[in-house]
Amino acid sequence: MREELKNFLKELKQYGIEKNIPNVSETVGKFLNFIVKISKAKTGVEIGCANGYSTIWLAEAFVHNEGKLTSIDFSAPSLKQARENITKLGFEDIVEFKFGDGIKILTQLDQKFDFVFLDAQKGNYHLFWDLIKTKIHNGSIVIVDDVLKFPEKTQKFMEQMKKEKEFDYQILPLDQDDGVMVIKKR
Ligand SMILES: C[S@@+](CC[C@H](N)C(=O)[O-])C[C@H]1O[C@@H](n2cnc3c(N)ncnc32)[C@H](O)[C@@H]1O
Repeated sequence: MREELKNFLKELKQYGIEKNIPNVSETVGKFLNFIVKISKAKTGVEIGCANGYSTIWLAEAFVHNEGKLTSIDFSAPSLKQARENITKLGFEDIVEFKFGDGIKILTQLDQKFDFVFLDAQKGNYHLFWDLIKTKIHNGSIVIVDDVLKFPEKTQKFMEQMKKEKEFDYQILPLDQDDGVMVIKKR
């Protein structure tokens, strides 16, 4: 990863801490970048991009894979900032932003994705999952953020996953108080 990009990410992370933006941790950002690269995913969708911190980690990996990423958020000011950050870094041809509710937009997207990153309302993860599983193919990877930090909010989703037969999953406790779920369709 080029130095300019590393510095930009460091500054954006610091900005997020100061402004209370719930960006993923640097560890999760690095993990997202790594897993997209090793999975060789060509098509990805991110639900909940905020000001684009995770989007940048993902975009750099999709450049590497010669792929494309769609990023969704229902906050217009956040999406504006994400778009500006992505443009500053020259990733505007890699990332297509979509404004609106993730469930509605995902329903309208007429394609299956190799990679999905879910980081929207935790209490709706179960609803997102019902939809996401119709938008992936065998071998696709889904990463779900914050699966340990808000157990009450994610309870329905966790119960849903325990019943799944066609998917393998693991929870990786990447942060001190939190973790991501990695799901793979068999
Ligand atoms: C935890 S933040 C995302 C942080 C971002 N992934 C990062 O690491 O920089 C959650 C974002 O999801 C958006 N969001 C929550 N529920 C949503 C929904 N149903 N549809 C679209 N966006 C949603 C919020 O506006 C917020 O910007």
